[in-house]
Amino acid sequence: KESTVCVVGSINMDLTISTEKMPEQGETILGGPFATYPGGKGANQAVAAARVGANVNMIGAVGDDAFGVTLLDHLKGEGINAEGITMTHEAATGIATIILSENDNRIIVAAGANNHVLPELVDKHHELIKHSDVVLMQLEIPMETVARTLKIAGEYDVPVVVNPAPYQSLPDDILTESAFFTPNEIEVEAMKNDSLFDSIREKLIITKGDEGVAFYDDGADQFVQGFHVEVKDTTGAGDTFNGALAACLGSGLPIDEAVQFANAAAALSVTKVGAQGGMPTSREVEKFIR
Ligand code: RIB
Ligand code: NA
Repeated sequence: KESTVCVVGSINMDLTISTEKMPEQGETILGGPFATYPGGKGANQAVAAARVGANVNMIGAVGDDAFGVTLLDHLKGEGINAEGITMTHEAATGIATIILSENDNRIIVAAGANNHVLPELVDKHHELIKHSDVVLMQLEIPMETVARTLKIAGEYDVPVVVNPAPYQSLPDDILTESAFFTPNEIEVEAMKNDSLFDSIREKLIITKGDEGVAFYDDGADQFVQGFHVEVKDTTGAGDTFNGALAACLGSGLPIDEAVQFANAAAALSVTKVGAQGGMPTSREVEKFIR
């Protein structure tokens, strides 16, 4: 069945320097090469869902600047419906500076325009939510927008997946109203401090990098093994998982099959540089799983 995913989230330009070693505190080192890649957890997840064949509506914001123009064109080029993406004069396009070494990556995000993804923007584009099978969000936009989106999705009975990254403490209404949470191991540890954590255990889909994915199904804890592949860049692996997962859930696949598919998609994504480089089509995923 066709799947329509609505992503409400961030759009960044990733400014990436590759280096053999990380600089120490106060140290300057010569690294490189440098490259820019389209990124942002929201945009990455939107692209991942579109690549595996979902129709994708995105709600977000870029600045009225060169990165904004480039990223908007790029998303449209991936087949994403960008009518919910606004170009704001009030802030610059979000960027992430990424230092990438062989066994580590460090990211710092300047949210910029992503802070202007406000509840009113989601209200304005509520039809995009209404006409989707699933909504997917992350935490690089204001928390009040995440809460508002959940309310609207609830009115239309559209299930919501929340990827709690980068981690921030989640208000109770977000914990109770979301259908699934997709933390990584670090984020799930932090979530244990949330008051309602015990009541949402069955909604957790925990990504553990190349180890695999833990989730709950059939009244019990389940685990899907990860894949060992040649790693070029792990940036965006979690995003690939989330986008592919939402696409599968939106098409009505059962949770275990959706997790298996998304797990394979994420494995393929790390074999190419750039958050969105290596995000596979469904055909590529199916070939890889077989
Ligand atoms: O998850 C990876 C993403 O996090 C990067 O693309 C960067 O933009 C940050 O948002
Ligand atoms: Na990649």
